[in-house]
Amino acid sequence: MTEETLSNLLKEDRRFEPPAEIAEHANLTAEAYDRAAADPEAFWAEQAGRLDWTQQWDQVLDWSNPPFAKWFVGGRLNAAYNCVDRHVEAGRGDKVALHWVGEPEGDTRDLTYAQLQDEVCQAANALTELGVTAGDRVAIYLPMIPEAVVAMLACARIGAPHTVVFGGFSSEALASRLVDCQAKVIVTSDGGYRRGSAAALKPAVDEAREKSSAQGHDVEKVLVVRRTGQDLGEGGWDDAVDVWWHDAVAGASTEHTPESFDSEHPLYVMYTSGTTGKPKGILHTTGGYLTGTSYTHWAVFDLKPETDVYWCSADIGWVTGHSYMVYGPLANGVTQVMYEGVPDSPERGRWWKIIQDYKVTIFYTAPTAIRSFMKQGREIPDRYDMSSLRILGSVGEPINPEAYVWYRHVIGGDRTPVVDTWWQTETGMIMISPLPGVTHGKPGSAMTPIPGVAAEVVNEAGEPVANGSGGYLVLTQPWPSMLRTIWGDDERFKDTYWSRFRNEGFYFAGDGAKKDDDGDIWVLGRVDDVMNVSGHRLSTTEIESALVSHPKVAEAAVVGAKDEDTGQAVCAFVILREEAGDGGDDIVAELRQHVRKEIGPIATPRQIMVVPELPKTRSGKIMRRLLRDVAEHREVGDVTTLADSSVMDLISQGLTGTA
Ligand code: WT7
Repeated sequence: MTEETLSNLLKEDRRFEPPAEIAEHANLTAEAYDRAAADPEAFWAEQAGRLDWTQQWDQVLDWSNPPFAKWFVGGRLNAAYNCVDRHVEAGRGDKVALHWVGEPEGDTRDLTYAQLQDEVCQAANALTELGVTAGDRVAIYLPMIPEAVVAMLACARIGAPHTVVFGGFSSEALASRLVDCQAKVIVTSDGGYRRGSAAALKPAVDEAREKSSAQGHDVEKVLVVRRTGQDLGEGGWDDAVDVWWHDAVAGASTEHTPESFDSEHPLYVMYTSGTTGKPKGILHTTGGYLTGTSYTHWAVFDLKPETDVYWCSADIGWVTGHSYMVYGPLANGVTQVMYEGVPDSPERGRWWKIIQDYKVTIFYTAPTAIRSFMKQGREIPDRYDMSSLRILGSVGEPINPEAYVWYRHVIGGDRTPVVDTWWQTETGMIMISPLPGVTHGKPGSAMTPIPGVAAEVVNEAGEPVANGSGGYLVLTQPWPSMLRTIWGDDERFKDTYWSRFRNEGFYFAGDGAKKDDDGDIWVLGRVDDVMNVSGHRLSTTEIESALVSHPKVAEAAVVGAKDEDTGQAVCAFVILREEAGDGGDDIVAELRQHVRKEIGPIATPRQIMVVPELPKTRSGKIMRRLLRDVAEHREVGDVTTLADSSVMDLISQGLTGTA
């Protein structure tokens, strides 16, 4: 973000006070900040009391070997029991857990907590039958259907860490995750509905399984949900490996005794992009993660589980779907909506109709979605009655003040606080956010760390910056749902997050931030080679590797350029191999298609520019800053550290008339 946009942001002076009725009955009040800061461990112990433990912990936090934390040491519990069974045992079995809304209109299903319990037990029995035991990894590659939630909870129930792979990822991306975590079983479906038509998933699983085998790892079984009923095609079924969900799960017993696991037992691995080409498997464990997600879901959304109807629009393939669709909300026993499809199918008011139909009270979505609705105009949401809404949330990228105000005004009817929640796959839970009954809202600011969390904005030397200045966002104390490591790579874990401010012992988030004159935090975006496209994290290097794997490409450099709709967009600069000549007329389309295939549609470059040279420093490092200037149509900045300063002229000349 440039200095200019930064100072524009900080000129934003609209303020929204908490509504009286929310403030009056708020779950947390202002005193919680001081209480938590005075004794964080006592505060977290209190929050862990939200859960049912079969064995109480002996120690809240073991931080004797930083950065490897252990929370609620010695405690034992079952995550699925906490998300499902205990609500049934408390007499709430008939309460709806999921109002599931399929994309085809009228294709809906309500699951009560009792039904969810039956299905989770059946799936747990089926997975056990397929040979899955505690500690085995299970990959889940599914559309947004109830079975995705059931499968995750079934894994948790038997202590088999799941790794959910976003259904929009390619077979290549799926294969690399299967290999990295050595998944024993995959849960998938024949396909899913998207924009009114059935899109296949199973063929990508077959391909991924082959690619995985070629890398020495054989997946043993594939459990397949029949969602669309589409033809699986010639060779699309392998009796030795593939098993239908409706045979294995529906036929299994609904009785299953949950085993309790150590608080630090691995719950799941979620892959996310880092600054190198290889995605990182972020490991979350059981007791601390569930404590953090249930507490934050209750505190940040001021949840009233008896009356609220909650909806988070995130896909289950991202961490938001894990923490704020599955574990947090279900641990809190709330009724929620789950929607399968895209926002504008069959028409552009689909989301608002769902809010109206189910009387949603809390809605959590991403700025990129809000901006796209803004563009379509308020006439569409204005057709629906959304007076049930009382709190709105935003996550995934900085929310620009205009989108914030529009969201509050048009969707929230000016009644609803907007909580801008900052967190990451690694943090597992919301870290910086206003509290809707306590904090006033400032459009564009995530405000302050929530009670129990300690964050700072520091300079290069690790010293807190003064109000009104910018720096790096760090977390200064451990928190229960923190990542425990990168799967199979402790060194990378230490290096990536804990080496930059090693002396201070701070967790380096990779984001730049600014403190305003009141000391409130404005998160500005990544300071590393990670892009944020529509709230999805993508690595520049990962896309560069994909481009270079194309036979016509010699070298590639990728930058994230500012984009009105998606926040950032992928812009690629490529040098072709000599033998490829000018690459042919379709070279750009060909390369875009190649990236889709290698990573997935979300990584497709908005722009690909074929250039004769790339700007590099004398030590050979690509100066992405200069390429960003080109991609954002700015005057190119300081070129004095370039090995050859004429390179930028070459690039600019080559682009005349094309960009
Ligand atoms: C990165 C984490 C957290 C779940 C979704 C994304 C950016 C996230 C905000 C926010 C400004 C934000 C950061 C962060 N980010 N929320 N409210 N304001 N930036 O999870 O894929 O792990 O990405 O998303 O850059 O580091 P993720």
